Amino acid sequence: MKLWGGRFTKEENQLVHRFNESLSFDQRFYAQDIRGSIAHVTMLAAAGIITDAEKDTIVSTLNSIKADLDSGKLEFTPDSEDIHSFVEAELISRTGDTGKKLHTGRSRNDQVALDMRLYTRDVIDELILIETSLLKELYTLMEKNLDTYMPGFTHLQKAQPVTLAHHLGAYFEMFSRDRSRLKDNRERMNYCPLGAGALAGTTYPLDRELTASLLGFYGPTLNSMDSVSDRDYLLELLSDLSITMMHLSRFCEEIIMWNSNEYRFIELDDAYSTGSSIMPQKKNPDIAELIRGKSGRVYGHLVALLTTMKGLPLAYNKDMQEDKEGAFDAMDTVKDCLILFTDMLKTITVNRDNMENSAKNGFTNATDAADWLVKNGVPFRDAHGIIGQLVLLCIEKDCSLDDLPIEEYKKICPVFNEGIYEAIAMKTCVDKRNTVGAPGKAAMEKVLEKYKEMI
Ligand code: ARG
Repeated sequence: MKLWGGRFTKEENQLVHRFNESLSFDQRFYAQDIRGSIAHVTMLAAAGIITDAEKDTIVSTLNSIKADLDSGKLEFTPDSEDIHSFVEAELISRTGDTGKKLHTGRSRNDQVALDMRLYTRDVIDELILIETSLLKELYTLMEKNLDTYMPGFTHLQKAQPVTLAHHLGAYFEMFSRDRSRLKDNRERMNYCPLGAGALAGTTYPLDRELTASLLGFYGPTLNSMDSVSDRDYLLELLSDLSITMMHLSRFCEEIIMWNSNEYRFIELDDAYSTGSSIMPQKKNPDIAELIRGKSGRVYGHLVALLTTMKGLPLAYNKDMQEDKEGAFDAMDTVKDCLILFTDMLKTITVNRDNMENSAKNGFTNATDAADWLVKNGVPFRDAHGIIGQLVLLCIEKDCSLDDLPIEEYKKICPVFNEGIYEAIAMKTCVDKRNTVGAPGKAAMEKVLEKYKEMI
């Protein structure tokens, strides 16, 4: 059914209908649309614009429409232009003239602004819970791996030893920032646009404070033109989601490397790997690769919406209907990625020995060896040179600094004594690093206490 047939003389052509309609994708927020309509008529009755009896009829019919849509008894008919027209037409067909009063003092412009906000707010609440599960999983893994030594890298070259707990802690920080970005976004967007009308408010004595509080908003939005044309909260969400995907993608990249034959730091569970159709030996990290790959489409949706919005004059323009499909796809994609990623993490096997051996083999304790010389009176620049020579010698002899005999040390610098071995042992190298945020066990335990409060 058309809501605007009165002014028109020609039937709409099929392609125009298909091009113009949004029901095929905005049907996903029917529950929010109905929630908004119930608040609207409740307010209309409280303000004396419709009677209580009319309100009761409309509310109970809207509730039964919702129940019928939930159960599948009522199906979306493709002749409606959007979810708003569909619900209103159904209401009128069930109640007759009473239903025709629902849209009093309302436009689809403020209606869609409300529905999209309600839907987005619900998704944000869900995403906050999903991110919290990921943080919990990271916390559990960190607690278990405070003594799992591994090389820390810069330039993808082994640099200094860290622990797996410390490495995972970096991601804990990233994902907790992502979660707080969602919370910020929710705070900023939590104002109700309903009552803005088409763009200039209405002449009915609407109680916008009441509608806002019925829907759990802090209050009404304060400019009716902005209310119907603001999509900042969606752009913020798409930026938040893009950053989350970037974090997931970096983590997946590391997981893919760690799971490779060259590293063998971890092993992915069979459930999150797939085989090759030709090479029988293969166990590919497809899920991690797909999550890494899907970052592209989420960034794409952010850029698409920024571009759609950038030339729009105030107030509502139909271009804004283009906000939905991309945003929905981004929300769905990120939800799936976060859930799958968390499950994948839960089931990895950590090869502690391989990690520790790798840290030992790459001279990751060279800085600590230089620091030992400094503590024994050698200026840092000289110490740096001396250890450099020792590393060269070890490369020639194919051994680590830990295995080089003390005579060889002494040949290059007489300051050395047996104490050097203790100073460059993996455990010492890590555990001596106890400034806030460093990988030492004591420092990490303090940080974990804070993380515990955050989850
Ligand atoms: N489907 C439209 C959208 O998503 C709803 C608002 C339509 N308003 C209008 N004046 N045509 O933006």
